[in-house]
Amino acid sequence: MAKDGEKGEWKEFIWNPRTREFLGRTASSWGLILLFYLIFYIFLAGLFALTMYVMLQTLDDHKPTWQDRLSTPGMVIRPKADESFEIVYNIHNTESWDMYAQALDKFLAPYNNSIQAQKNDECHPDQYFVQEDSGDVKNNPKRSCQFNRTFLGDCSGIDERYYGYQQGKPCIIIKLNRVIGLLPGKNGQAPYVTCGAKRYKVGKDEWKEDSDKIGELVYFPPNGTFNLMYYPYYGKKAQVNYSQPLVAVKFMNITANQDVNIECKINANNIPIGSERDKFAGRVSFKLRINTVN
Ligand SMILES: *[C@@H]1O[C@H](CO)[C@@H](O)[C@H](O)[C@H]1NC(C)=O
Ligand SMILES: *[C@@H]1O[C@H](CO)[C@@H](O)[C@H](O)[C@H]1NC(C)=O
Ligand SMILES: *[C@@H]1O[C@H](CO)[C@@H](O)[C@H](O)[C@H]1NC(C)=O
Ligand SMILES: *[C@@H]1O[C@H](CO)[C@@H](O)[C@H](O)[C@H]1NC(C)=O
Ligand SMILES: *[C@@H]1O[C@H](CO)[C@@H](O)[C@H](O)[C@H]1NC(C)=O
Repeated sequence: MAKDGEKGEWKEFIWNPRTREFLGRTASSWGLILLFYLIFYIFLAGLFALTMYVMLQTLDDHKPTWQDRLSTPGMVIRPKADESFEIVYNIHNTESWDMYAQALDKFLAPYNNSIQAQKNDECHPDQYFVQEDSGDVKNNPKRSCQFNRTFLGDCSGIDERYYGYQQGKPCIIIKLNRVIGLLPGKNGQAPYVTCGAKRYKVGKDEWKEDSDKIGELVYFPPNGTFNLMYYPYYGKKAQVNYSQPLVAVKFMNITANQDVNIECKINANNIPIGSERDKFAGRVSFKLRINTVN
């Protein structure tokens, strides 16, 4: 009998015909609850949409609203060395250096004079090419300056078809990573690249460098400068045809058949020197080994 009573209580809880309650509430009570939640969620969705709309209105397609104060840009070299940053080849083995020449051909193709003349402007050198928006009037798309392939002289691949790799006088091309709004030099002084021997560890507290093996270096454009007219950079969307300026370094008399550890860095009076913490800021290092014996 007790069992029956329990069953009856349950049944009554689910549907009580006496008070007409379903799960302990009347139909109107349930209706009110559902109505409350419905309005509540519609309100939340509306609030979300409104916030989103307002936030999106403040965004500019052409310019990031927030940007880290990443003040020291990274540097990269071409031809792209493999993961270990090594360029190793034998001058007698065409296959060992041809891939470097081909990589440079491909990399430099967009810098062909004819293409630059068609896409970009001849700017006033040695000063920033500032194209600010005036108030709400966006000055887009923004123009970019020509960086002609021939600026790279013997490293342009035009006169020296194989960028000197074949003669053991290879060219390395350096570029600075793009940073929107970066003004790399003040007082009209352009940043420039210098390469030298990299200090490396050979034992505990023992360091070595290959400065005697590097030989003469020649930079293109002269002095290895990144002309100020290529800055500031306004971003991919605002400055569609932007061509990053390049610096080429030609190793005229590097010691063959030995590893030579090289480091190139940017020198600029408006870019802080990369910290110990960020080893890639403002510098790049690689190993060059040119074999001349089979
Ligand atoms: C760029 O110039 C080089 C050498 O003058 C030529 O071989 C190459 O076909 C050109 N590339 C383009 C994309 O015009
Ligand atoms: C780049 O090359 C083109 C075509 O040869 C030339 O008309 C233009 O003046 C050059 N630009 C600069 C900045 O020297
Ligand atoms: C970008 O280059 C194209 C040609 O490739 C040119 O028609 C266009 O005007 C250039 N745009 C800007 C903003 O320089
Ligand atoms: C290169 O640097 C030297 C010495 O700093 C300077 O006299 C020369 O004018 C510079 N050349 C160019 C093309 O900037
Ligand atoms: C090239 O470097 C070697 C030493 O590594 C030196 O003896 C030679 O004089 C240099 N040649 C030139 C043309 O500088």
